[in-house]
Amino acid sequence: MLYALHALGLDSLVASFVVAHLLKPRGWKPPVRRQFFLDCNEIADLCDSAERIFSSEPSVLQLKAPIKIFGDLHGQFGDLMRLFDEYGSPSTAGDIAYIDYLFLGDYVDRGQHSLETITLLLALKVEYPSNVHLIRGNHEAADINALFGFRIECIERMGERDGIWVWHRINRLFNWLPLAALIEKKIICMHGGIGRSINHVEQIENLQRPITMEAGSIVLMDLLWSDPTENDSVEGLRPNARGPGLVTFGPDRVMEFCNNNDLQLIVRAHECVMDGFERFAQGHLITLFSATNYCGTANNAGAILVLGRDLVVVPKLIHPLPPAISSPEASPERHIEDTWMQELNANRPPTPTRGRPQVANDRGSLAWI
Ligand SMILES: *[C@@H]1O[C@H](CO)[C@@H](O)[C@H](O)[C@H]1NC(C)=O
Repeated sequence: MLYALHALGLDSLVASFVVAHLLKPRGWKPPVRRQFFLDCNEIADLCDSAERIFSSEPSVLQLKAPIKIFGDLHGQFGDLMRLFDEYGSPSTAGDIAYIDYLFLGDYVDRGQHSLETITLLLALKVEYPSNVHLIRGNHEAADINALFGFRIECIERMGERDGIWVWHRINRLFNWLPLAALIEKKIICMHGGIGRSINHVEQIENLQRPITMEAGSIVLMDLLWSDPTENDSVEGLRPNARGPGLVTFGPDRVMEFCNNNDLQLIVRAHECVMDGFERFAQGHLITLFSATNYCGTANNAGAILVLGRDLVVVPKLIHPLPPAISSPEASPERHIEDTWMQELNANRPPTPTRGRPQVANDRGSLAWI
């Protein structure tokens, strides 16, 4: 039925259906037996609508304050609902008329509800195209999310044939995602960082989409994969423990980049931090991570940043839920989900939380992701 109506030109019908079904900040519960409520045609429609919007946007979004910024979600849809519940949600009954929303990527993988997370965010983009903004993370790439949970989730929840089809369709859309956002020309946001190669915002603006990671752009690799160095006393460029060819950049690089581009601040995600947010380069870079208790083991808080009209930055936190308490992520499904995470963690260990000692490991050449 939805498909027929779409053919009549009611473009946002699937989007409003998805929002009505999933945007439940207070009352969301994981579906029984993990069944996903959308079929291939509906997801295709949603992707078509969202892709049309992304393809009309520049690679570096030009945004305005006030705005709320979200870090990695990694399929932890219950945490997204908690953040909406605590700090306002993107609906007309919520605060969308007063404040924009920006998401810094890593919507999928690791957590158990990548499908809910990505489809709700796409639906919100279609419903509020000039108020909801999505940029790309390193997990919005087929070669990565084939390995870290999203592909398996699609197959598990939609069946082999439909699951693989949907996984391909969504990954095709990921290649269109904008790559960074500039707020009031003063604050730049990206998933990873500036790495070794990025000295001017125009280098990011010049990236043409659709683009895959295989295109081999060092600018894109740095943007989606690099991290700040261990702390403010480690300057310059260093190798990155995530894997060969990846770098970490020092506070001197951050200051130079801000000076070159007349910026106050870099906001990035990509690394789990204990308080959900963490300052670097004397406050000129902030790492933001919104999923709590990452991979079921990190015990970290999750955070968003609220950026006021005056560009004052206010972090807002949610804390990990104690396992005993009934939570959106807990249910009769809980043991299935625990098993899911344990297997994934054993096969693909999570990147160590920033500032925590790195456990010795013999992963060989497999990158931490
Ligand atoms: C910063 O990191 C370096 C390199 O790991 C370390 O030797 C140093 O003790 C750290 N400094 C602080 C203040 O944590």
